[in-house]
Amino acid sequence: MSDVIRILVVDDERPIREGCQRVLTAKDYDVRTAENGQEALDILERERVDLILLDLKMPVLSGEEVLQAVQERHPDVPVIIITGHGTVDTAVECMKNGAYDFITKPFQIDQFLATVNRASEKRKLEQQARRYQEENVRNLYDLHLEKSRLRTMINCLANGVMVTNRSMEVVLHNPVLMQLLDIKEEIDAPVPISGITSDQALIKTLESILEQHEGKSEWVSQEIQVGAKALRAISAPALGPDGDVMGTVTVLEDITPFKQLDQMKTDFVNMVAHELRSPLVSIRQLQSVILEGLTGPLNEKQKDYISRGMNKIDALLGLINDLLDIAKIEAGKYEQHRIPTDLGKLMKETVSLLEPRAKQQGITITCDYHDLKPVQADPKNMEEVLNNLLSNAINYSPNGGTVAVRARGLGEFMEIEVTDTGVGIPEEELPKIFDKFYRVKHPETRKVIGTGLGLAIVKSVVEAHNGTIEVESTPGKGSTFRIRLPMIVEG
Ligand SMILES: Nc1ncnc2c1ncn2[C@@H]1O[C@H](COP(=O)(O)OP(=O)(O)OP(=O)(O)O)[C@@H](O)[C@H]1O
Ligand SMILES: [Mg+2]
Repeated sequence: MSDVIRILVVDDERPIREGCQRVLTAKDYDVRTAENGQEALDILERERVDLILLDLKMPVLSGEEVLQAVQERHPDVPVIIITGHGTVDTAVECMKNGAYDFITKPFQIDQFLATVNRASEKRKLEQQARRYQEENVRNLYDLHLEKSRLRTMINCLANGVMVTNRSMEVVLHNPVLMQLLDIKEEIDAPVPISGITSDQALIKTLESILEQHEGKSEWVSQEIQVGAKALRAISAPALGPDGDVMGTVTVLEDITPFKQLDQMKTDFVNMVAHELRSPLVSIRQLQSVILEGLTGPLNEKQKDYISRGMNKIDALLGLINDLLDIAKIEAGKYEQHRIPTDLGKLMKETVSLLEPRAKQQGITITCDYHDLKPVQADPKNMEEVLNNLLSNAINYSPNGGTVAVRARGLGEFMEIEVTDTGVGIPEEELPKIFDKFYRVKHPETRKVIGTGLGLAIVKSVVEAHNGTIEVESTPGKGSTFRIRLPMIVEG
């Protein structure tokens, strides 16, 4: 809409019309003129007019009649009455009927302009106020629409959604959430979190998210149990416009079917592994009897074939044992005989066992031990851990290099680090390498034979000993695996 005020001058006296037009145009007003009331009303029907200067005494329609028509059809357009001295009373009457002001002929230019300016200012302000009001209504409407869209979307989601404010009250939830959390009755938001879930781990997570500082927006994924259901809860902070944590958002997914499937798969793998082991052991024994010549002499070719076959059987038995170990660890039935164990000694043994293979690959192993104290552990388990870490360090260093083994006592725990200068692991793969059967695809280590169980076993064993394992790696430079185990503190 143009900001120039358009004034309609209605007067039957031509000099007045032209005089007004000249003076007002010089002040940047846009001026229209009409010589009688009917013409004025026609113009008003056709185009926008912001202000009317209206003579009282005119042929066809009198000023009062025009005023009345304007009041009815365009009540927001201010009207200034032009009056001679003889009609001042009528002009005052017109003001009572809604005219904005009146000016008397002959005009004092300053006064005339001052009145017109005031009226046009009023008109402008009114228009602005109306625009703001319209904008406000539109904004409110948009907000309402956005809210209702959001609610529809949340209600249509297949996952449960729960939003809390800073006071840990649930301010938004959807029907799926109620279903997943086994809540039958309708709950009106806001409701304290305790009215929705009693899972302390989840509540703790949400509390810690609320304590997060601005700019840090960590997502927490955890599993919670509701009756027979296993749910995956992913929680994140809800950030305000300036990055402050205003509350939390949690999305819940029912993973019970996946867990059941996973269990079935594990049971199946265990069963197969178990069923395969006995016949394989028998085949191996028979082969070894043949190899030792107890069934008659063998030529070199026969010996070679049989021993190659036995190597394959050993690899298969290794895999089967790994699978069964993992299954036992997961079921909590892993056999452990924890005794004070000297990890330094175990490390030395493992290093000397793997040194020939390292040499073949042009790898130097360096060792560094200090402040060693025994840990309460199962030596066989620990041997497996060290063996896996060192084998990996060697296997995944195809271009030679150095593997540094470091063990040291640090107050209440022992720290073991195995650092290599091998291919490294991309950051996005790091969280997955401890998963069962997960192997990183790398062109340089494609030839390395493995099942992806080594690190899963290492992690399970370390955690079963109340220890921790972490990894740092730079692709192309190398990796460090670091284990910490609680030490036996004397006294
Ligand atoms: N030191 C390392 N440097 C680079 N990659 C590594 C290292 N250690 C492990 N990895 C990566 O992590 C994956 C998983 O290791 P893990 O020891 O569990 O399995 P694996 O070595 O493939 O098989 P195995 O069960 O025989 O040990 C490996 O396939 C490899 O891609
Ligand atoms: Mg391995």
